[in-house]
This record gives sequence, C-alpha cells and structure tokens, in this order.
Amino acid sequence: MAPHPYLADAPLLVAAQGGRASRVPVWFMRQAGRSLPEYRELRGEGSILDAIHDPDLAAEITLQPVRRYGVDAAILFSDIVVPAAAIGFGVDVVPGVGPVVTEPFRSAADLDRLRPYEPEEDAPYVGETVRAVVAEIGATPLIGFAGAPFTVASYLIEGRPSRTYGLTKAMLHGEPKLWFELLDRLADMAIASLLAQVAGGASAIQLFDSWAGALSPDVYAEHVLPHSAKVFAALEASGVPRIHFGVGTGELLGLMGDAGADVVGVDWRVPLDVARERLPGKAVQGNLDPAVCLAPWDVVADRTRDVLRRNAGRPGHIFNLGHGVLPELDPGVLKQVVDLVHEEGRTDG
Ligand code: CP3
Repeated sequence: MAPHPYLADAPLLVAAQGGRASRVPVWFMRQAGRSLPEYRELRGEGSILDAIHDPDLAAEITLQPVRRYGVDAAILFSDIVVPAAAIGFGVDVVPGVGPVVTEPFRSAADLDRLRPYEPEEDAPYVGETVRAVVAEIGATPLIGFAGAPFTVASYLIEGRPSRTYGLTKAMLHGEPKLWFELLDRLADMAIASLLAQVAGGASAIQLFDSWAGALSPDVYAEHVLPHSAKVFAALEASGVPRIHFGVGTGELLGLMGDAGADVVGVDWRVPLDVARERLPGKAVQGNLDPAVCLAPWDVVADRTRDVLRRNAGRPGHIFNLGHGVLPELDPGVLKQVVDLVHEEGRTDG
C-alpha cells in the first residue's frame, strides 16, 4: 500500500526513502507517555496493557506528543509484548520493571503456547487505535511498530529484563533448532502485527531490536538477521518505509541495514558521520543522547547541532534520540529540540 496521497510529501516519509525533505523530520522514541504529565494524568495506575486495550485512551496518548512537541510523526501507543500477551503467553508489563513472563519459554514444549497471532481477533483494540489516530492526525504519519524476534525472545526466555541474556544465549547456542523455530514464530508474529497496523493506516514501521547489541556480529548474522530479514521482506510489498533500531549496535549497523530496512536507527555511541559510513545507501535515524536533554539548554542545543553537523545536510536523515525519552525529561526541552531541528536542520548539500 503506497502512502496516502496527502502524506506523500510528509518530511518523515521523504527522508525515510532517502530523499530531500522540506525540513529535517524529528520524532522521539518513547515519546508517547513517560515524560508527559498529561499522559500520567490520563493513564492513572494499573498495567500499561490495560491502557493499550482502550482505543480511545491509546489514541489520545498517541496524539499527545504530536500536539505538545510538533514532531513529524506519531508512534502508536502500544508495547512490543502486546502480540505475545494477546495470544495468552502470560506476559504483563510491571511498572518500573518492564515485561514479566509468568512461565518463561524454556523448551520445545513451550512452542505449543505460541500459536499464530491474528491481530483482528486477538487484539482488535490495536487496529481500532490505529484507525482512530489516523482519522485525527491529518498529514502527520503514524509509525507502527513491533518487537524484533530477538528482543521479544529475550523477554519470553528470561522472563524479565536481563543484563546478560544468559538463558537466551544458552538457547541460541545450545539448541539452535529450537531457537530457529522460536524466532521464526516471533517473526511471523511481528509480520502479522505490522501488516495489520499498515492496513489500518500506519504509513511507516519500526522494528525494535532494542537488545540486539548484546550479540557479536557473527552470532547476529547467523542466528538473528535471517529472522529480522523475513519481517522486512514481508513488509516490502506494503510500500511503507521500514526502520530498524537497536541499542549498542555500532558493530552491527551494516548487518542491520542488510536485514532489509530503509532506515537504520543509530544510538548515541556512534557519531552520525561514522554511522553514515557504515550504512551506504541507507537513510539514518538518530542520535542525540537522551540523557543530554537533562543538561542546561546551551549544552542540549550544542549537542543537537552536533548531530545535524555530522549529517552535513545529506538527505535521508530523521532526527531522533539515540534511545527512548527518559521519564524524568522536561517536555519543554524536547519541544525546544524539535524547534531547533526544524529551524537549523537542512538537507541541501
Ligand atoms: O513512544 C512510546 O512510548 C510508544 C509506545 C511504546 C511503549 N513501549 C509504551 C510503554 C513503545 C514504542 C514501546 C516499545 C518497547 N517496549 C520497547 C522498544 C523500545 C525501547 O525502549 O527500546 C521495549 C524494549 C519495550 C519493553 C518495555 N515496556 C519495557 C522495558 C518497559 C519498562 C520500562 C519503561 O518504563 O520503559 C515497558 C513499559 C512501557 N511501555 C511504558 C510505556 C509508556 C512505561 C510504563 C508505563 O507507562 O506503564
């Protein structure tokens, strides 16, 4: 599905296709929620999964940052574990901790608990949220997203956020057939989820492989890349730009591009000009350190300009943070970053 005609000139979509946009587009990973007081007020207590189940609420939370910051894209208010939770794998998202799995994935018998995900039956509220956002949002693109097979597998196997990914790596190396089958199913889950979001009107997608940076390039290439590549290939015919992102992935950037994305997200550890060299022919997204936004404005402005300077006016740059908005960030500073990028960013040379 090609983007809706009135979206064709949207700076985010032009830049994502490597083109010269009318301005450098900017949005923030994890912009929906976290640092916005109006989010906390709306959302109240309870699991984020309950908020995601409520299309009116989820659509409103998706739109809040677009209004507040004037960013060039909305990102759907959802979570990477929603499909697994929706098929009954037993996942909750614990405030301040993250995804927690009651009975983690440990053996081939657990494959029976991972049946195919059917978005319209299993999670109709996601499609309703997408349609509600798109109806409201006018010419601003909505980014749909999914968790990449590796990152979702890490939660299902570890049972909770992990620093070492010990159990995950033990399965990857020790039981490669089971690993392949698990990742293949998670790739199908991501594909179903992304295609449904695109069908509902999302005009770009991002595959979050947030924790892929835990792997060495050879292991990533053999055990992870083929599954993420399957996801990108399945989205190709949809015609929407595809963004691929992970944290600490400096050594993996080229491979992440090879997986088939149009845009590769870069965290703050790799200067954007260096990332460009590792990603010939790709658009790039990034890469202001989110923690820098806690510093005085002069510093934030300086670091923002440094990102723009390193891109040096090349087309195909989407400005973003190197990872998600920190909950303690002042929304006013993010708004100033957006304004600065819009004023000073250029793609003319
Ligand atoms: O901009 C947005 O916030 C859009 C919605 C969004 C959420 N999660 C909502 C959420 C998106 C794009 C995600 C993706 C996600 N979820 C990722 C990939 C992005 C990344 O940060 O690398 C990952 C790894 C997860 C898993 C997850 N969900 C974690 C680790 C946590 C807890 C820590 C935290 O606070 O981020 C969550 C909970 C979560 N998902 C929150 C939000 C707004 C915060 C808690 C809440 O409001 O209950």
